[in-house]
Amino acid sequence: MKKRLTVLISGRGSNLESLIRHAESYQVTSIVTNSLDAPGIAFGSEFNIPVEIRDRKDFSSLTDCKDAIFKAVQKTAPDFVALAGFMQILQPKFVEHYFGRLLNIHPSLLPLYPGLDTHQRALEDQQKEHGCTVHFVDSGMDTGPIIAQSSVEVLNDETVASLQQKVLTKEHLIYPWAMNLVASGDIQINERNVTYSKKALESAKEMNFKIKLGEQNGN
Ligand code: GRF
Repeated sequence: MKKRLTVLISGRGSNLESLIRHAESYQVTSIVTNSLDAPGIAFGSEFNIPVEIRDRKDFSSLTDCKDAIFKAVQKTAPDFVALAGFMQILQPKFVEHYFGRLLNIHPSLLPLYPGLDTHQRALEDQQKEHGCTVHFVDSGMDTGPIIAQSSVEVLNDETVASLQQKVLTKEHLIYPWAMNLVASGDIQINERNVTYSKKALESAKEMNFKIKLGEQNGN
């Protein structure tokens, strides 16, 4: 049986679309948003996936909105939850509840550049390499256990826009790749240690994704 995936978005939703289109061992069964204006909501009707809207503007406090988001996600009964451009810091109770089943995509090679404006910061630092990271979410800001990374070369004439586009292309590949392998059990997490089956290791190599190997890998 395919695993149920709920995706949280606040904006464009291009990673949501990629997660929907490349789903194999999971199925995107719900979309949850904190913004009625998120263009990505349109993917709900396009792919016939229910969208739960908990618009920040409808709540008198941020806490009330976050409570409503947590409840909405629980109502969708997900096996896994994916953050895809969800611009709201999750409550600790949310992160604890879904730890190990909650993934995020971040546009930098973590631990470099957590937070916002990652492409700008990479350019300012004259990095020669930049990229994106899929990781399990913990209570910190982009600090959770890393699943895999995909890098791009930063060229001399690179702009924020060109770099953003190059990294986004990689995001669209690595996020569903990781989600499929987590949903199939080929990538697992014990405590904070991410482990990979032989199939996952071989596939990462083939895709040119970087993973950090611990002791218990390759079974
Ligand atoms: C992506 O760059 C993602 O890495 C970051 O927010 C952006 C969302 O873009 N977390 P989209 O809404 O998926 O198009």
